Amino acid sequence: MSQQFDVVVIGGGPGGYIAAIRAAQLGSKVACIDEWKNSKGGAAPGGTCTNVGCIPSKALLQSSEHFDQASHHFADHGITVDGLKMDVATMVARKDTVVKQNNDGILYLFKKNKVSFFHGRGSFVKAADGLYEISVAGDKPETLLAKHVVIATGSNARQLPGAAFDEKQILSNDGALALTEVPKKLGVIGSGVIGLEMGSVWRRLGAEVTVLEALPTFLGAVDEQVAKEAQKIFTKQGLKLQLGVKIGDIKAAKKGVTVSYTDAKGEAQKAEFDKLIISIGRVPNTIGLSAEAVGLQLDERGAIVVNDDCQTNLPNVWAVGDVVRGPMLAHKAEEEGVAVAERIAGQHGHVDFNTIPWVIYTSPEIAWVGKTEQALKAEGRSYKAGSFPFIANGRARALGDTTGFVKFLADATTDEILGVHIIGPSASELISEAVVAMSFKASAEDIARICHAHPSLSEATKEAALAVDKRTLNF
Ligand code: FAD
Ligand code: NAI
Repeated sequence: MSQQFDVVVIGGGPGGYIAAIRAAQLGSKVACIDEWKNSKGGAAPGGTCTNVGCIPSKALLQSSEHFDQASHHFADHGITVDGLKMDVATMVARKDTVVKQNNDGILYLFKKNKVSFFHGRGSFVKAADGLYEISVAGDKPETLLAKHVVIATGSNARQLPGAAFDEKQILSNDGALALTEVPKKLGVIGSGVIGLEMGSVWRRLGAEVTVLEALPTFLGAVDEQVAKEAQKIFTKQGLKLQLGVKIGDIKAAKKGVTVSYTDAKGEAQKAEFDKLIISIGRVPNTIGLSAEAVGLQLDERGAIVVNDDCQTNLPNVWAVGDVVRGPMLAHKAEEEGVAVAERIAGQHGHVDFNTIPWVIYTSPEIAWVGKTEQALKAEGRSYKAGSFPFIANGRARALGDTTGFVKFLADATTDEILGVHIIGPSASELISEAVVAMSFKASAEDIARICHAHPSLSEATKEAALAVDKRTLNF
């Protein structure tokens, strides 16, 4: 006997599980299907983000940052550490515990919100009589009927032709988060967000990390001034960055990987690594969904085609998160999940793509929201810029972390904030103020006139806003 639901969500990552919870809050009878398995074969909802993405990467970044602090910075505070050692197995086990806490948290939230959870692969069977039939292939096969379907099936790491991930020598994010020892020489292809974050983890623990990037510019999507500063700092930290390369053959042996490539000068090079991470972007995932069974439209990249409201070409079928256009970010997926659940309930859910923050969790952290300076120049928009360095911030000096700056970009006439760019300590937290300000269409003057606690890093944000009007108080 098939069970009928108002809403069936396929995929239990941040897009899917949040959509399911919001739809249940709004009174719908909801099911969520997710196929992710933990090492024991049990359900592990939370998707890429929880299992092999945001959460485990931040756990390893935290552990490796502690090690780096103890290795290089504790001495400044008069703390001596003798015989400092890194036990990678314990670090990875801690990361696994953090992941499990998040998996269990989602299962608890499903219960709390009366969302029925099905562990297995959800596939379209057919559409008939205004309902979609979906099969769940798992330990307990089921058939569900749904008035509305929300697809949140996420994305997978993009492969380089001829270099399939074996997760032993050639690693995707999956293998990069599960190394059992620090590689002596780590190669990374792609200097994007994953390459920099995972490269940082293993560099801090002692790996010699070489990053091979196809583009001639470093972090092209980031504000140029911030990207330049980041490149300088990462290089000083020991990251070997090679831009403008063309990757050739990649050969994995029992031990090690050889990468042939042409460097920016056009010269042929060969590099040997113990492990190689390939992080060249991600592709939308519709494997196993049987999109063709109901005529669901995909684009040439394999993404599900949706309009601004996340509606697909099929009535009452919606899609959110990494499987559709837009940035592949957990919080973007969540916002879309909430908006879709609200639209299903007849409300007017909305996602403001102009105020989605980005964070790269390197050290220093990089965070931004809104337009970059180069984008404003390209648009021909008149703007004013103001920035403030952390070296002039009392809290940053007390913390012993004075790298970087906060930069504001505001409209030359109205003073409306158009973009905020931060490189420095706790940038991931500081950016929230800028997101709030931009969501309320605040001016730089608004931020400059708000009282910020002293001493705090947030004073650098206030000072950068003052800098727009050339009236910083502490610099
Ligand atoms: P996913 O999280 O991929 O979830 C999709 C789920 O659907 C999975 O559980 C999958 O098993 C399941 N599924 C797929 N097909 C089916 C099916 N047919 N039936 C049943 N289940 C199915 N983003 C950030 O915002 N901040 C970060 O710090 C960050 N760090 C990251 C670090 C790494 C290493 C990686 C790889 C990504 C990171 N991301 C980060 C990106 C973030 O993980 C994704 O944007 C986010 O997970 C997308 O959410 P989603 O719900 O669309 O898809
Ligand atoms: P990315 O898109 O961030 O970076 C990929 C990089 O690889 C680019 O610089 C690109 O020019 C380069 N590249 C592409 N093809 C190449 C080739 N053949 N040879 C050499 N370089 C090549 O992708 P990444 O790092 O794989 O991450 C995927 C996505 O996951 C991110 O875009 C982001 O959406 C998400 N993510 C978010 C994080 C966060 O919010 N902190 C952390 C990690 C991932």
